[in-house]
This record gives sequence, C-alpha cells and structure tokens, in this order.
Amino acid sequence: MLLPSSWPGVLVADASRLEDTPALGVYIHWPFCSAICPYCDFNVHPVRDMQAADWRAGYFLALEHAQTMRADGPVETVFFGGGTPSLMPPELIGDLLADIDRRWGLAADAEISLEANPVSAPEARLQNLKAAGITRLSLGAQAFDAAALKFLGRTHSLEQAEDAFVAARGIFDRASLDLIYARPDQTLDGWARELEHALALEPAHMSLYQLTIEPNTPFFTRHAAGKFDMPDEALAADMYELTQETCAAAGLPAYEVSNHARDGHACRHNLASWRGGDYFGIGPGAHGRVHAAQGRVATEALAKPAAWLESLVGGGDGLSEKRLLGHEDMHAETVLLGLRLVEGVSMSRLEAAGVPLDKRRIAGLREAGLIAEIPHTLAVTQAGRLLLDRITDAVLAD
Ligand SMILES: C[S@@+](CC[C@H](N)C(=O)[O-])C[C@H]1O[C@@H](n2cnc3c(N)ncnc32)[C@H](O)[C@@H]1O
Ligand code: SF4
Repeated sequence: MLLPSSWPGVLVADASRLEDTPALGVYIHWPFCSAICPYCDFNVHPVRDMQAADWRAGYFLALEHAQTMRADGPVETVFFGGGTPSLMPPELIGDLLADIDRRWGLAADAEISLEANPVSAPEARLQNLKAAGITRLSLGAQAFDAAALKFLGRTHSLEQAEDAFVAARGIFDRASLDLIYARPDQTLDGWARELEHALALEPAHMSLYQLTIEPNTPFFTRHAAGKFDMPDEALAADMYELTQETCAAAGLPAYEVSNHARDGHACRHNLASWRGGDYFGIGPGAHGRVHAAQGRVATEALAKPAAWLESLVGGGDGLSEKRLLGHEDMHAETVLLGLRLVEGVSMSRLEAAGVPLDKRRIAGLREAGLIAEIPHTLAVTQAGRLLLDRITDAVLAD
C-alpha cells in the first residue's frame, strides 16, 4: 500500500510517541566496488560510476527527507554498508556523521560501523576512517585459501586481508571478519583450517556465511552450465555444525544464524534491526524501517544510483517504495527476524504484537528438537537454524 497523499511534512516528535519508539539507527549504502564479485547480488556498481557524479548531495538530501519521517533521536548506531564504503571519501563520512548529529543527536557511545574490502583498506586509510568517526570495521576477507580467493573473484591476496585485519584490530574499538564457506570443492578439513586461521587473528566478531548462488550473478550462470557443483546438503550441514562448535569453543558463540561474537561484541546496529528497531535506509537501494506518526513505515530507495540522485536533487524523496506496514507484515517480520537470533523473541512481545501462534504446532517443533526449551521465549535450536525457513513458515502458517 502506498502512503496516502496526506503524508505529512516535518514531524514534530510528541512525548507520547517517544515513550515507545525504539532505538534509532541509520544505514548508509555506498553502492560502488573496485571489482564486482561473481557471487554477489547486492546493489553494487563499478567504481567508474563512483567517479561519474558527485553523490554527496544525494546523501544529505536523503537525510533531510528521513527527518520528516522521524525527528526524535538520538541516533545510537550508524552502519556504512555496501558495496564498498571503504572507498568513500573519509571527509564525506565525517560530514554525514556531523549532519546526523545536527538532526537527531548522535549518542556519545554510538556504534559507527563500516564495511571494508582489503583492497581499499591500507593502514593510512583506516586511520583516516577512524579520524572521520568510524568505531567498528567489518573486513571482507572471504577466504583464507589462495585458490578460493581466486575462485571468488577477489582481487586481494590472503596476506593483504590478514594485514588489513591486524591493522584494523589495532585502530578501531571493534573489528570483524567476513568469510564465505560451503564453497565448491571445499572439504570439512579445509574449512576447519580456514576457521582456525581466522581465529588465530583474534577477532572479537565474525560473520560466517554459507555461499549462496543468487539469480542474475555470473555464478548463477556458471553453476547452471555445470561449471561447478555446490557441496551437498549433508556436507554443508556438517560445515555449519563445525562452525558453531569451533567458534563457541573459541569464545565466539553464535548470536545470529551467521554472526558470532565475544560477549559484548555483537554488532549493535544489526542486533537492533533484528529486534525490530528503527533505522533509516540512506543511499541507492537502501531499505529502512521507521515508526512514524501513522505507524511503522517501510522504505526502499531507488536502486540505480543515477535515478536516486536525480530524484533527490529534483526535489523528490529518492524512494521507490514507502508503505505503511500492516499487522500481518509486522507479525511476519517480528518472527522472521527474531528467530534469526539465538536469543529468539519473547512470547510476551509476540502476544503484545498480536502475532497468532499455533501452540500445538510449536509444541511439535519443540518435540522435534527444533524449537528451544526456553521459558516464555520462541527461539530456534542450533539444529533448527539449519531449517530456519521451514520453521518460520510453520510458525507463521494459518
Ligand atoms: C557488502 S559485503 C562486505 C564488504 C566488501 N564489499 C567486501 O566484499 O569485502 C557483505 C558480505 O556479504 C557476503 N556475501 C555477499 N554475497 C554472498 C553470497 N552470494 N553468499 C554468501 N555470502 C555473500 C560476503 O561475505 C561479504 O563480505
Ligand atoms: S562482495 Fe563486497 S566487493 Fe564484492 S561485489 Fe559484493 S559488495 Fe562488492
């Protein structure tokens, strides 16, 4: 449903709404990458497009528009994601943070994350990013195996990723590693060695994703043409179990399907969004969720950078979608996002939100060992997380 034409201009926060509005975050999407990886279906564009226009104005205009949806702050977390935001001019990052602070106030202990590719993360640049206000860096190492990096189309070496991570760990309050596993030809032993390699770098946070073959990517075409085979389900499941056990033993248990952290090192921005918090989506293709005066609003920005900029500079909102979420959408999101988290969702929150729950079906899933035995909480077990889609479907089914 598109919003009615009565959508207001600047909202003035009223005290009653402040009582129950969730913490506020800002997601800023920088869609440019120095090379496009053949597996990636994010909203990404080649670096030559980054030089083709002055994108700065678009970001400030998008923040101005965001303030018309929710004006009360402070902003607790900012996440620069991509694409490759380590390619962003650090001055732009500093200026955007100053603008966020001016509009909503930026909490003194705000978490300011940025995703980096080892190619654009030499130590001097990392120092500049820190000076611009970044407190947490998430580095896309992807593999600790030279042949796998080549297969993934990565343009950095294993050593470059290691050096960038060691530098990041020394510079930022927090640093995280991204790795992709369950790749073609990867063995269980091979993944165990890569995981040990990663843990030897002493990360306090890791995002460990199983490779997925996404439509409209070069990998999709190559896989469909039989150029490579994906690991079978049993091997992928063994790799998942090994990941859970190895990380937990090293003091980084999972807190979400693909995310592991030492105590107190979970990504606050992502955690807040999985818990149903508010975040503005700024930048081409970015998604946002905000409690506005009318209710919870979902936004999606125009994906093509040129169309997004043209809309904003022309006085538009740069959005391809802005809709009020109905009860059913909100129920589905609460369950879908909440069950990704190891902590799950409290039954009282589900009941307060009016989520219809089939208690018999849930009891059946519990008996099958897929739903955890945690009082007053709906949470999936480690075994259940492998079947998460099927479990959320079952929980949400009428
Ligand atoms: C925006 S990127 C991270 C930063 C930077 N662009 C880079 O690649 O170094 C987000 C992460 O998503 C993961 N990812 C992207 N496509 C994936 C796929 N098809 N399967 C599994 N993980 C994927 C990668 O681990 C990647 O680091
Ligand atoms: S994985 Fe990272 S660097 Fe590669 S295309 Fe995706 S966003 Fe860009």
